[in-house]
Amino acid sequence: MSAQLIDGFGRVHRDLRISVTDRCNFRCAYCMPEEGMQWQRREDLLSFEEIERVARIMVERYGVDGIRLTGGEPTVRARLPILVEKLAALGVDLAMTTNGVTLPLLAKDLKAAGLRRVNISLDSLRHDRFEELTRRDELDRVLEGIDAAKAAGFDPVKINVVVMKGINDDEVLDFARFGREHDVTVRFIEFMPLDADEIWNNDRVLTQAEILATLQAEFDLEPVERTSAPASRWRYADGAGEIGVVASVSQSFCDTCDRVRITADGQFRNCLFATDETDVRALLRDDSSDDVIAAALERTVAAKWAGHQINQVHFIRPRRSMSEIGG
Ligand code: GTP
Ligand code: 5AD
Ligand code: SF4
Repeated sequence: MSAQLIDGFGRVHRDLRISVTDRCNFRCAYCMPEEGMQWQRREDLLSFEEIERVARIMVERYGVDGIRLTGGEPTVRARLPILVEKLAALGVDLAMTTNGVTLPLLAKDLKAAGLRRVNISLDSLRHDRFEELTRRDELDRVLEGIDAAKAAGFDPVKINVVVMKGINDDEVLDFARFGREHDVTVRFIEFMPLDADEIWNNDRVLTQAEILATLQAEFDLEPVERTSAPASRWRYADGAGEIGVVASVSQSFCDTCDRVRITADGQFRNCLFATDETDVRALLRDDSSDDVIAAALERTVAAKWAGHQINQVHFIRPRRSMSEIGG
């Protein structure tokens, strides 16, 4: 490995997020349009072999050392453990972000295939609200999924809570207590303008400062030094684990960003909010050499902007919603 995926601001990219499907067994209001999505055709998705090839180029040439599988919901992709095995063989920190509902069935197989970490999205601990948010009555199954992930040996298990004012912001303390009781790391995520039905507006964002104030009224927290990852972290002073906030809106962390993304249909993105994509699928399918593919990856990263411009006049919402980009 000699080259780097480096942009014009000196940021070196070592973290790859791969969406393996745009499909999902939930219909979260902030992610998918109410009328449902037009799913991509099976043949338009990258095959496991194609995914492995791009991942290998990134790992071997550019020192990418973290890969996260996302969706849609990654576990709806058939035979996912086979892909996990292929990617685990690259020796990276292999993780997945999931809605958790299939983990009671799949957690063990995924662990055995080499998956190291799982983050589980869960935005309400109340049955009626959970159903309203996801348009599915599956809270108990997700809770079972969290237990299954722990029982399979995933450590840490993180819970992602997208906090939306007037929707679930009254559950911050309930989630904190849940994390302490279940020995999982809860991370509160500021709501970002990536929702399919465009219900986002700035008044719906509960900021990191507001989340922290609520937590500190009940718990004694000590800051943990942050890495290039998006979450700011705190530990409970009484030793009951950690809590995090992903403050994408109020405190953008773009200046330390080291992430690139591939969509399920093989489009390479240099930012969550990118408005341009590079068609890696086309290169894979017209017999391009590794050198040609690598050059396209390098060019895309080199062209990365300084960061997203949420809340500024020139902010452009990406054409695709979260379910297609993978978060
Ligand atoms: P860890 O490796 O466990 O820290 O995972 P992660 O937090 O990076 O991944 P996860 O998929 O759990 O994402 C948590 C939240 O962070 C989601 O809302 C993502 O959309 C958001 N997120 C992840 N990467 C980025 C990024 O590059 N930019 C922004 N703005 N948000 C991101
Ligand atoms: N803003 C912030 N986070 C979001 N996610 C989905 N949509 C949004 C949004 N509009 C989260 C999911 C999942 C992760 C990949 O992104 O809940 O945990
Ligand atoms: Fe599915 Fe995740 Fe989107 Fe919800 S946020 S609809 S669980 S992809």
